Amino acid sequence: MSKSASPMGPPAAEAATPFALIREPLEEVERQFLAELATATPGIAAIGDYLHSGGGKRLRPALLLLAAELCGARGPKMVALGTVVEMIHAATLIHDDVIDDAAIRRGRPSANTRWGARACVLAGDWLYMQAFSIALRQRHFAILDELIRLTETMVAGELRQQEMAGTVVTRQQHLDLIEAKTARLFAVCCKLGALSVGRAAEAATLERFGRELGIAFQMVDDILDFTASEDLLGKPVGNDLREGKMTLPALYAYERADRGQRRRMELVMREGYATVGLAEIRELLAETGALERAMTEAREHAAAAQDLLVGFPPSVWREAMMALPMLAVERMH
Ligand code: FPP
Ligand code: MG
Repeated sequence: MSKSASPMGPPAAEAATPFALIREPLEEVERQFLAELATATPGIAAIGDYLHSGGGKRLRPALLLLAAELCGARGPKMVALGTVVEMIHAATLIHDDVIDDAAIRRGRPSANTRWGARACVLAGDWLYMQAFSIALRQRHFAILDELIRLTETMVAGELRQQEMAGTVVTRQQHLDLIEAKTARLFAVCCKLGALSVGRAAEAATLERFGRELGIAFQMVDDILDFTASEDLLGKPVGNDLREGKMTLPALYAYERADRGQRRRMELVMREGYATVGLAEIRELLAETGALERAMTEAREHAAAAQDLLVGFPPSVWREAMMALPMLAVERMH
């Protein structure tokens, strides 16, 4: 991004990161999220507060707000929609940790570890329905329709993930899965602002941008699961394979591995790192070029996302959106 103040936007200091541009509405999303949560029964509010205060990148509302600006949509309605997507995201994380029986999330004991699965299922339900309640206040059927179809896709994706756990999946099965569990939400975030101001053509392009960005983001997530540290990730490393999930780097390594190495990977998928250590798996991923291959693919999706923005008139918002795909693939956590 340009270092000098540009006639298209704010001074350089503010343009330092794409998120600096939407700092204020993003803070309003934070306030609304907490205010909505405060209306819940205390047991539920505590769980929601705990997850929310544990950190998180607030990527989905940020994406929604930036994409909305690209279509001239801003103000309280966009803040409300930002809150909606962050709440849906929070609900899915709470439910996902129950399903995965995860012990750690965002660097702390997961909510299910502290409050138990039963309370967490209910807290996830509440967050999810509150998100719909906020969305309903907008009286915009196309937006509700998007959110309903999004949920159906995410639920189906999560179920498929459970069914496929412990098995060696095809590349296409894996791509369909990351589209359902991550990229659809990104796509919806990107199109809601355009939809709310009736800009159908832009909504369709931004949806495709969000999809490409989401795929790139998830591919990098799956690479970081092997390469980053637990401190940086806020969750255990090497977790996907331990949970029996064959992600893209694992799939590529498996493809080039010999019989013995394949057996060792299958063993991790069955019993975790009891017999085969994470170091051995990391080495296999490096030596088969799997990490590089997956990273190249992530970069291709990031570049495809950027290409989709060229038709929008130049603006500080377009520049910020253009920067997101590379930030997603170059991130360290
Ligand atoms: C994380 O995957 C899971 C998701 C992003 C989707 C979860 C979806 C659901 C639980 C179903 C929908 C539920 C509602 C309330 C709409 P992961 O386990 O690979 O990631 P992780 O390592 O961060 O846990
Ligand atoms: Mg999980």
